[in-house]
Amino acid sequence: MQFSVSRNPVAQEKTACAIVAVHATRLSAEAQILDKLYQGHLSQAVKAGDLASKRGATLSLFMPKASNHKRVLLVQLGKEKTLSIIAFKSLMQSVAKAVHATNASNALSLLMSLNVDDSSPRAIARLQSTIFSDSLYQYSETFSKEKSVHKLKRITLHCSDNATLRQIQTGCAQGKAIASGMAVTKHLGDLPANICTPTHLADEAKAIKKGNKRLSVQVLNEAEMKKLGMGSLLSVSAGSAEQAKLIAMQYKGAAASKKPIVLIGKGITFDTGGISLKQGAGMDEMKFDMCGAATVLGLMKTLAELDLPINVVGIVAAAENMPGSKATKPGDVVTSMSGQTIEILNTDAEGRLVLCDALTYAARYKPDVVIDMATLTGACIVALGFEACGLMSNSDQLSADLLASGQASADRAWRLPIWDEYQSSLDSNFADMANIGSGRWAGAITAGCFLERFAKDYQWAHLDIAGVAWNMGKNKGATARPVPLLTEYLLRRAKQA
Ligand code: BES
Ligand code: MN
Ligand code: ZN
Repeated sequence: MQFSVSRNPVAQEKTACAIVAVHATRLSAEAQILDKLYQGHLSQAVKAGDLASKRGATLSLFMPKASNHKRVLLVQLGKEKTLSIIAFKSLMQSVAKAVHATNASNALSLLMSLNVDDSSPRAIARLQSTIFSDSLYQYSETFSKEKSVHKLKRITLHCSDNATLRQIQTGCAQGKAIASGMAVTKHLGDLPANICTPTHLADEAKAIKKGNKRLSVQVLNEAEMKKLGMGSLLSVSAGSAEQAKLIAMQYKGAAASKKPIVLIGKGITFDTGGISLKQGAGMDEMKFDMCGAATVLGLMKTLAELDLPINVVGIVAAAENMPGSKATKPGDVVTSMSGQTIEILNTDAEGRLVLCDALTYAARYKPDVVIDMATLTGACIVALGFEACGLMSNSDQLSADLLASGQASADRAWRLPIWDEYQSSLDSNFADMANIGSGRWAGAITAGCFLERFAKDYQWAHLDIAGVAWNMGKNKGATARPVPLLTEYLLRRAKQA
């Protein structure tokens, strides 16, 4: 998708589809210009009630021959004067859908003048271009016939004053980079587990690195992990024919003296539960159990495109969780790289077992902060549903930064406590800790408490993305969340938000 910013008078813009806002029954300033130009065509359609009153409703009008504006797409904003960023996001998703439903290969967005929370023109342009670009994503890898591709190729954002032109251009470039990372994340998430193995994730990391001098990749195999003492991570892949991989991608955009931001992703390429086998219904969705890893790889892609002046390390802990004669059994005790021993009471609580060794490994990069992302617990979905990911952290500052980044990018997180009082639930009679809490309550939190024991030496945050990483049902597929949240955080760290 190509983006450009234009300051031409609205009437003179040539486009296959002009997108304008309507507030209840009142036309926006831009819509009024077109209404005049086309003898009241827009206002008549609105008066006739053809544009529904619900926010996000759209109406596509085909314009008379030889006009500059082949179509006008009316978008219903509702009565309110300002929109929340969340409402704006879902509005833009409806807009992108409606434009795709026409035959237009280019469109002119006259939506830059909307009031969206306290968002800057750059942030609004960023979100618009993210959504337009991301709307082109289609999974096609495992179909026998090619899918028809979207016709929409070019978007022009209309801007009314010179002062914001550069801001909007920057926002567009950022949005494009975010969407290209999101495409990596979605693609890896959507791939079936017989293709997307730990080895495949390592290959993908190498493909992202290719040709970029600021990126480097290191992949550890099982023998190398064994040497490092990663007994916890290796206990997860023990029952699988697929070799576990620890993938470390380094992005160097700043001086070596600048401490890196370390991102860690849970990369369980399939989670059967192991010997603590999951029930059959819906088990296919456990191919998405590597979405934390896919987020890390997507972010590395975005980062490389944005060329940010920061240092970032992306670590992926990749393994397949299978039952088998060599699989870990409930009651087995393993020793993690940190030296702490773990009684594995449930082999289905495997995410924390791969993450804890990755957290210990992360210390070698002398990180500024460490953020892990994991489809870790069903309990987090019980707590927060599908709107927000769960945030747990040992740092109030890092928490505040991530919450703000989630809000600004319409990819929200919500904090859960990991108070000491929860820790005793992990007590074990046979090891330093058990890998599950003793009761069934606060499951997202006890998982967070487990991880905290391995993140003592730095500022750390954990994002439980079980509820947000993929959609279930008819639109089953990866969402690429929380790529927008983390990109916002990285942009802010680079002072480029
Ligand atoms: N990958 C799952 C968590 C999950 C389940 C994410 C459903 C999204 C949808 C994780 O490995 C798991 O199995 N967690 C267990 C933990 C339990 C055994 C303490 C869970 O949530 O049931
Ligand atoms: Mn599991
Ligand atoms: Zn899992």
